[in-house]
Amino acid sequence: MSSGAVDWKPTFEPLAFARQLSTRTAQRQLSLAEIQHGILEAAARPLSRATTLPAQAYTNEEVFAWEVEHLLRAGWQCVAHVSQLPAAGDFLNLDLLGEPLIVVRGKDDSIRVLSRVCPHRSMDIMPEGFGYDGHSPAQARGSQPDCGHTRLFLCPYHAWTFELDGRLKACPEMQQAEDFCRDDFFLKPFRSEIWQGFVFVNLDGNAPPLAEDLAEMTADLAAFRLPKMKLAIAREWDCPFNWKVLVENFMESYHHLGIHHKSLQPMMPARDTWTEQERRRYVRAHLPYKDSVREAYLQFEERGDFSTALPPLPGLSDDQKSEWGLFLIHPTFLLATAPDRVIWYRLQPIGPDRLKLLTTTLLAPEALELPNFEQLRAQATEQLTAFHLEDMEVCTAVQRGLYASGWQPGRLSHLEMPVWLFHRYLAARIRGDWPTDNGSTAASQRP
Ligand code: FES
Ligand SMILES: [Fe+2]
Repeated sequence: MSSGAVDWKPTFEPLAFARQLSTRTAQRQLSLAEIQHGILEAAARPLSRATTLPAQAYTNEEVFAWEVEHLLRAGWQCVAHVSQLPAAGDFLNLDLLGEPLIVVRGKDDSIRVLSRVCPHRSMDIMPEGFGYDGHSPAQARGSQPDCGHTRLFLCPYHAWTFELDGRLKACPEMQQAEDFCRDDFFLKPFRSEIWQGFVFVNLDGNAPPLAEDLAEMTADLAAFRLPKMKLAIAREWDCPFNWKVLVENFMESYHHLGIHHKSLQPMMPARDTWTEQERRRYVRAHLPYKDSVREAYLQFEERGDFSTALPPLPGLSDDQKSEWGLFLIHPTFLLATAPDRVIWYRLQPIGPDRLKLLTTTLLAPEALELPNFEQLRAQATEQLTAFHLEDMEVCTAVQRGLYASGWQPGRLSHLEMPVWLFHRYLAARIRGDWPTDNGSTAASQRP
């Protein structure tokens, strides 16, 4: 497992000044209702007339609070891949929408998502830098700071201990507490589901089952054997922009023409990218290889010399070997499939203009056995970082633009269909329904 410190810095002062401006003079501050009205209006337009959303959909605190309640806590957030928790007692920590969480594999082999808030007096049972040398039974695992292994959880405040499934195991000096029943105190479990090897959590407990409406996508992805893949590369980023700025950037490939003109455009030209029909719960786009790249790739596979590049994933169709695929499960699950790897982004929105992001690469288990694996992994790390840095720069600059008085509503290209579909999802959630519920489903860009 490799992970990097957050050493990226935007090339300019991103937000402090912009924020100050917006609250004073730059833009007339709209109410939540006005901003949502703007979202509904933008999303009601056909793709050929589509516009951007109101700027304040990405900067307003009330909009963010609404999203936390109605989209993020109410929806399914992906927190881990099963390969990050291979054995009983393996766990990883993350903070999601104000909830300190542990994702842990129990003695019964089940993966659970538990609160880290101690039921005694609210201590985080594993604050950052846990371990307290020799005090806690938990040990860090791999080089990711928030991954560990333990036989039980120990709250460092008054030493209450918990089983891997969250039950209170022991609590010292409680014998004089009357009517105290140990079973009444446990680490609160959150509702979770595993889909295709990814662990999702639903914080408010009321979301419709995750797999509902995903059957087609599950079949589409079957050849990638996602549950068997290994998360081999992970890197954290502190992002000074709105989570929706990243979702839109990840899903549209129009920007290959601009910021990725040297990195991705020569391989997957923007004009060839296309988007499938509207789905209730997800968006699916295709990024076909240029003919010369596809031919070179098939020859590379035929030669069978994988000393300098990862081998293709076994079992993919020729079509799957000729393109990248992009997937968004609303609201924040972002996945890109390539012929030799899968890229997953884990999003932890923190505020209207702050997001913690984990960029990861998953590889076939066979790839980890290759004699030159370390070299191939270093190469894959470099490749992801190179184009992700380009995206970090644009997303940061976009967020600054969203605060400015010079901001104006924009028009979308047909190549930005995933952005338009995402806006239609946001509008549907404002109305309280889902895209496709009202029967007017957008058609695929390919017959
Ligand atoms: S707060 Fe955890 S043991 Fe007291
Ligand atoms: Fe990009």
